[in-house]
Amino acid sequence: MTKTGKGIANGLTNYGDPRFAAYLRRSFASSMGYSRKMLEKPVVGITWTASGFNNCHRGVPELVEAVKRGVLAAGGLPLDFPVTSLGEVFLNPTSMVFRNLMAMDVEEMVRAQPMDAVVLVGGCDKTLPALVMGAASANKPAIVLATGPMMTSRYQGERLGACTDCRRFWARYRAGELEDKQIDQVEGSLATTAGTCAVMGTASSMAIMLEVMGLMLPGTAAIPAVHADRLRAAEATGTAAMGLIASGRTFKETVTQATIDNALKTLLAISGSTNAIIHLAAIAGRLGLKVDLDKLNAMSDATPVLVDLKPTGDAYMEDFFYAGGVGALLRRLGDHLDLAARTVTGEALADLVPPDDSWIDGRVIRPVETPIRADGGLVALFGNLAPKGAILKRAAADERLFEKTGRAVVFEGLKDLSDRIDDPDLDVTEDDILVLKNAGPKASGMPESGYLPIPSKLARKGVKDMLRISDARMSGTAYGTIVLHVSPESAAGGPLALVRNGDMIRMSVRERRLELLVEEAELARRLPTPAPAAETRGWLGLYNRHVMQAENGCDLDFMLPDAQDAAEARVMKMPAKA
Ligand code: FES
Repeated sequence: MTKTGKGIANGLTNYGDPRFAAYLRRSFASSMGYSRKMLEKPVVGITWTASGFNNCHRGVPELVEAVKRGVLAAGGLPLDFPVTSLGEVFLNPTSMVFRNLMAMDVEEMVRAQPMDAVVLVGGCDKTLPALVMGAASANKPAIVLATGPMMTSRYQGERLGACTDCRRFWARYRAGELEDKQIDQVEGSLATTAGTCAVMGTASSMAIMLEVMGLMLPGTAAIPAVHADRLRAAEATGTAAMGLIASGRTFKETVTQATIDNALKTLLAISGSTNAIIHLAAIAGRLGLKVDLDKLNAMSDATPVLVDLKPTGDAYMEDFFYAGGVGALLRRLGDHLDLAARTVTGEALADLVPPDDSWIDGRVIRPVETPIRADGGLVALFGNLAPKGAILKRAAADERLFEKTGRAVVFEGLKDLSDRIDDPDLDVTEDDILVLKNAGPKASGMPESGYLPIPSKLARKGVKDMLRISDARMSGTAYGTIVLHVSPESAAGGPLALVRNGDMIRMSVRERRLELLVEEAELARRLPTPAPAAETRGWLGLYNRHVMQAENGCDLDFMLPDAQDAAEARVMKMPAKA
């Protein structure tokens, strides 16, 4: 990588005549009104992820303007460019199947277009993982700017924030505690500003982890989307991108196994989203690194939960920001982290820890001596029902269900679930275990269906939680005793496909076990539930053929570094004047 940047002359279009290609590019760039002097400056690309289908990114146009200001002030040429934008609630069947598509889009556009560095602007759920996966593979200097979280709102004096309160009120509505008119009023009050979900969901978890990984400027992850500080952060990020051009530092040089481990410990300490484990595994995979679920369990035993945000606690992201944000968390958690890890700017994490804790709101970010829990928020479970692992967010679960043996009530897939969950004749009691099959990455793109609703006949009796098991995911804003990401999934031949109604299942959080209590000989006789017919054409066809399981981040098998090395080798073999 150049130390000064080649600007617009980077990576010329292949016409067989490089001088002609440079001349033509300058000429066409001039048609956008740029002077020759501007076209000779280093170029900072800025991802444009605003979309009419992405409410969380409503503030992106203003952010991009502020990034441009920072680039211009530092002597560069800022050029924004569109990439896929994933608005979580606007995508069918689920945004998860498009994360890898967005990552490919980002990688190829960052690589193909003449930029010396890139600012990755995003926030909604899958967008930060996709941007980082793509930029990691493109291997150009890059820095992340999060869109920031939404502010909270009020309903009849009660504080509301998307989307833990969305689920809480919907559960009350299903239980008959709210009228249609009331749920309509709640609907209008849940999400009222630009920004990402206001709790410790996937978007917030990823933003905080990426700041701890040193991939965005310190202090910027938690600034509310509508706060003026976020625009100042955007301006500073643009300036920092110019610094990256000088250093040539890329994600590959910044992110080591220590960085990944720091991110995992942070996830445990914030009691963050289960989805973040999948996204971190995918990011690590792009860099030849790994998220090891056995290691996660060891870390979880030793890492306290310090942050008290919904869905497991009481506060919202704006409270986390005003409590001191990631800097305060680093100050409190520092002894558990490898502070020698580097950031994109080359500083050590230790340099970013505030020198004192004169102002940290201890109600939101606790001291390690008085944590919310002494152990981490997430654990991995293993056993004959999940040979490659499953995840439980124990901080969001009911401890009375941690050591549980119960009868399986099985749903064969998403349609079966929606057809029968509220059937008054469903044979189910609150002591049973709800099991959902065919909701994993290959079967259906791994939607957030792991939060199986409590059957309405039980909800109306006041049942609030049951043990639920699936190969699906769950929104980071949800809560309950919910075992997710069972691997291998049922559609990939996992034992989940063999579970039948009435089988006994045992979960032990203490032993980290998840077992189907059926004789092996009986299991060998059973035929698995058939997987749903998979799409074969287009993007979904490609996705279905190549998606890996949850422990590998649900990335595509041909996007791993070995595959990339092969691709780069092919490019290098091309004749110079082709
Ligand atoms: Fe965008 Fe929750 S819907 S972060």
